[in-house]
Amino acid sequence: MEPVRLKEGVYWVGGIDWKLRNFHGYSTGRGSTYNAYLIIDEKITLIDTVKEYLFDEMMERISKVVDPSKIDIIISNHVEMDHSGSLPRIMQVCPSARIYASPNGVRGLKAHYRKAWDFVEVKGGDTLSLGKRSLQFLLTPMVHWPDNMVSFCPEEKILFSNDSFGQHIASSERFDDEYPADIIWEEAAKYYANIVWPYSAQVRKELEAASGLDFEMIAPSHGLVIRSLAGQIVGLYQKWANLETIKKAVVVYDTMWKSTEKMALSIASAFEAKGYKVRLMSLQENHISDIMTELLDARTLCVGSPTLNNNMLPTVAAFLTYLKGLSCGGREALAFGSYGWGGQSVALVEKELEAAGFNLMEGFRVNYVPDEAQLNHIKEDLEKRI
Ligand code: FEO
Repeated sequence: MEPVRLKEGVYWVGGIDWKLRNFHGYSTGRGSTYNAYLIIDEKITLIDTVKEYLFDEMMERISKVVDPSKIDIIISNHVEMDHSGSLPRIMQVCPSARIYASPNGVRGLKAHYRKAWDFVEVKGGDTLSLGKRSLQFLLTPMVHWPDNMVSFCPEEKILFSNDSFGQHIASSERFDDEYPADIIWEEAAKYYANIVWPYSAQVRKELEAASGLDFEMIAPSHGLVIRSLAGQIVGLYQKWANLETIKKAVVVYDTMWKSTEKMALSIASAFEAKGYKVRLMSLQENHISDIMTELLDARTLCVGSPTLNNNMLPTVAAFLTYLKGLSCGGREALAFGSYGWGGQSVALVEKELEAAGFNLMEGFRVNYVPDEAQLNHIKEDLEKRI
């Protein structure tokens, strides 16, 4: 368990969660890291901690640089327990350390841990001297809790960005230029789509504020430290935060006896014929968090469900609940599905899509099994409207 040097006197001392596969509903197939950073200066400073069960791993890394009881300052950029979970135990080791956090951060830490620690509230724009180095604080509420802030070290040109620019990747490599860039982009997009997307307006403000900072390294709280691709990841965040889309359709569906699946294929072929990129995603084979990643830059979402017991299929309902929570409307959407009797599913899916803020296009319903003429009609009708 080695610390990793970012710059002279600045170390990564986090934990690697090789086995993590589910982060409250988000599938994390590559695991994750919880990145804590140690700055050795006149004031020995720890930025964030790790999940409680990786405390020993973090302590082993810190101990290879400095005696942990000598930590003077702990910066808590974010209350969520993947970053603050080890605070109670490290505060037993360095009980005199002062904890710096945003006002919402101090409130949140008190509510989580019920301890009379030495808290200092910081405001946006405040600067804290560590000796030769300093930290400037930028409050970034709702990226992704009300307490979030980022810390900037101008002397080292490092932005400790917390959840922003994170990726759920477990690896022994610590820097972007040591790891396949396409996986970093894929995981950064998945992270944005599943965690950051609802707060895109706040991200735009954060990017504007960060544009005035002269940083050459981004040290997020999950995944790789970005030192070679900082410009690219900021550019991607600008695109995502501005909700830019391309000519792309995501067709999501579940099916009982393949009728709705046949409709999904006709819908997909209509988009293909009109030059769209298409992603055909069955809910039996695709995780909802991977569907969200594909939706991040898609212009149109199509959602199909047959009718089951006067309702939509539970898998489709779960997807729509997840989608609505991520507040990603403002795009086109249509519903489709087959039915035997009743036939409520399409109207119910439309109601959910509308509640999620999507602009509804006219959808398609077919009784029992669609024949070739019905499938051709779906394709031809849709081609005329897209
Ligand atoms: Fe990685 Fe919002 O915590």
